[in-house]
Amino acid sequence: MPGLRRWMYRGKPALEGVDQTGVTEEEAAFLYGLAVAVRPRCIAEVGTGALRSFRALCKAAEYLICDLDMPCAVWTCDISSEPIMRARGFGIATKCVWGDARKLASQIHPAPELIFIDGKHTCDALEADTTALWPVAADGALFVYHDMSLPQFGLQKFLEEAGGLLIPSPRGMGILVKPNKG
Ligand SMILES: C[S@@+](CC[C@H](N)C(=O)[O-])C[C@H]1O[C@@H](n2cnc3c(N)ncnc32)[C@H](O)[C@@H]1O
Repeated sequence: MPGLRRWMYRGKPALEGVDQTGVTEEEAAFLYGLAVAVRPRCIAEVGTGALRSFRALCKAAEYLICDLDMPCAVWTCDISSEPIMRARGFGIATKCVWGDARKLASQIHPAPELIFIDGKHTCDALEADTTALWPVAADGALFVYHDMSLPQFGLQKFLEEAGGLLIPSPRGMGILVKPNKG
């Protein structure tokens, strides 16, 4: 993905005290491609972290806005203030929320069509994040989860119970679709 690597890693040095794990380069390229293919008017992210996924999503939004003349807002939230302060002002149409998925859900508009969840890595947290964003997500929205195949987290159980799909990637991406009402 031309330029994506530079975009992902540009900027300030690593933040002390902030979880620096994030999507790999390959997974960032996957997210970028997914966002360009889905062409969402709004993207939601839980877990800004090291901004790796956020940057890939912003890069996709930039392509949609500047090259395809389509609207695309990227919203991100994190319970830690440092990633939010760092993400502010990044990208073209971004909103950074200091708080959890419930706070993000109370503010986000329009209805997100692509949701990337990479916050706390427990099944209960995934369920809470999904439950918070499900009602405000657009019909047909794609929920994407990170770190699904890392054994230390045991998150595949959540995906299996929710009826989602596991996409092979370095750390495992889970996909769940909110059904269309029509
Ligand atoms: C694995 S990192 C995210 C990495 C990021 N997606 C990337 O690719 O660079 C997880 C982040 O989620 C945040 N977090 C943990 N629990 C959360 C929650 N309940 N709601 C929102 N963010 C949370 C942490 O502060 C941390 O910054």
